[in-house]
Amino acid sequence: MTEALDRRTFAIISHPDAGKTTLTEKLLLSGGAIHLAGEVKARGAARRARSDWMKIEQQRGISVTSSVMTFERDGITFNLLDTPGHEDFSEDTYRTLTAVDSAIMVIDAARGIEAQTRKLFEVCRLRSVPIITFVNKVDREGREPFELLDEIADVLALDVTPMSWPAGMGGQFEGVYNLASNELDQPTGDSRAFEGKRATLTGLDDSALETLLSADRLEQLREEAELAQAGYAAFDEAAYRHGDLTPVYFGSALKQFGVEALIDAIARHAPPPRPQPAEPAPVEPTRDEVTGFVFKVQANMDPNHRDRIAFMRLCSGTFKRGMKLTPTGHGKPVAIHSPILFFAQERELADEAFPGDIIGIPNHGTLRVGDTLSEKADVRFTGLPNFAPEILRRVVLKDPTKTKQLRKALDDMAEEGVTQVFYPEIGANLVIGVVGQLQLDVLISRLEAEYKVAAGLEMAPFETARWVSAGDPKKLKEFTDINRTAMAKDRDGNPVFMAKSAWEVGYVAERYPDVTFAATRER
Ligand code: G4P
Repeated sequence: MTEALDRRTFAIISHPDAGKTTLTEKLLLSGGAIHLAGEVKARGAARRARSDWMKIEQQRGISVTSSVMTFERDGITFNLLDTPGHEDFSEDTYRTLTAVDSAIMVIDAARGIEAQTRKLFEVCRLRSVPIITFVNKVDREGREPFELLDEIADVLALDVTPMSWPAGMGGQFEGVYNLASNELDQPTGDSRAFEGKRATLTGLDDSALETLLSADRLEQLREEAELAQAGYAAFDEAAYRHGDLTPVYFGSALKQFGVEALIDAIARHAPPPRPQPAEPAPVEPTRDEVTGFVFKVQANMDPNHRDRIAFMRLCSGTFKRGMKLTPTGHGKPVAIHSPILFFAQERELADEAFPGDIIGIPNHGTLRVGDTLSEKADVRFTGLPNFAPEILRRVVLKDPTKTKQLRKALDDMAEEGVTQVFYPEIGANLVIGVVGQLQLDVLISRLEAEYKVAAGLEMAPFETARWVSAGDPKKLKEFTDINRTAMAKDRDGNPVFMAKSAWEVGYVAERYPDVTFAATRER
């Protein structure tokens, strides 16, 4: 099982503009996966141009789809899962974060912890996902390193360990000093980027530093680094892996400072595949049988084919092409003849994959988000919830003869986990539920572009929904009979109560103590 031990499956979390795209590019570049910086964006743009609905992405400058990039370096296989950064897609992002073993948190040195970083961090904390912090853009004027470290520690309630230190920032920037390896990386040439000028020193008191840095910067570096090393916890790998401590690297993604140190840190400290929560018991990566779960489904990657790709995270066993896996709970075994591994260059046909790897499985709608796939169909992975929608809308067809296409389209998108669809007990118009406003725009554009269905959205008299259940079926029936006008079924036929407000949910819940109102539903 050495292959599993050599896997690092991770994501980058950040607030928009902190530098996630730039860092992704540079990580891939260092890993030798792409040859030209800028390709992540360029390839992305080319891919986007193929699908009409994705115009929204371009217009709004956000990334709606998430992809998987794999690269290798020094015998380690890195699987980088891209998380959509926009807050409207927190549900999708949440699911992606269930498929990683660790994360890099990118922070803009001038801005510190921002709203979206914090939200994503909380998701990581829920699952004790270990975090390495990268303070980006030290080539620009930023806040004091101490101030940033204290903010991370206070706001996120984490221990912090500075692993490197910037020698000045912005106009005074003269390099980044690696406190563990005692190496100083310095800018060269007009671009003031890192082009390999690295000095190895015996320590901060090495007199060679006097020829490398200006007197002011050297004095500042020595003083600050000494204070930092005395003032913050020493690096403790167990505490990091437990999610209690974050090592902090300073650097500049754009100028390539600190990127290698970051890769080394992931290789050395980030955990290989971790046991995954499942029933009847967590699945260890060392288990022989192949198991995995689908954390994302993407339909219509190519508009000319109605295929979809289910992204499966492999949790145990050695996957081989052609293998038969059974989706737990529904369906018969599926033979996986053309699995896809997501190398950065192109989609590659996979012959073998190991725990921690992500496999794309082309299918015609049999596989859904949250599905467990396994050889023996004897486990079920847990913790991939559906979230109660915060916006509900009625879908109104402009051409009433297109009912069938509309249902198909809404079912497809529900399957992707992008929107939820509800079938009201009374009335013909379907109701869709989303977690964020932007998803509504995506929905309408996709209906037109991919399904040729012209539709509009109407306010529904409801704002939120809860899955209802009760230990005693009589009590549930009592409740649903009285509230028939507010009842609907979700895609799987589960009863859903649609409410005018969160307040109403609370009010009704109090009156029906025997009924459970759930804001999430695990598939
Ligand atoms: P995101 O994916 O997190 O949203 O951020 P992205 O990488 O797109 O970076 C946001 C902006 O910050 C970009 O500038 C990018 O060039 C810049 N940036 C990223 N890393 C660094 C860094 O280390 N130093 C400096 N000085 N800038 C950095 P832009 O002008 O918005 O876009 P572009 O035209 O440069 O692509």
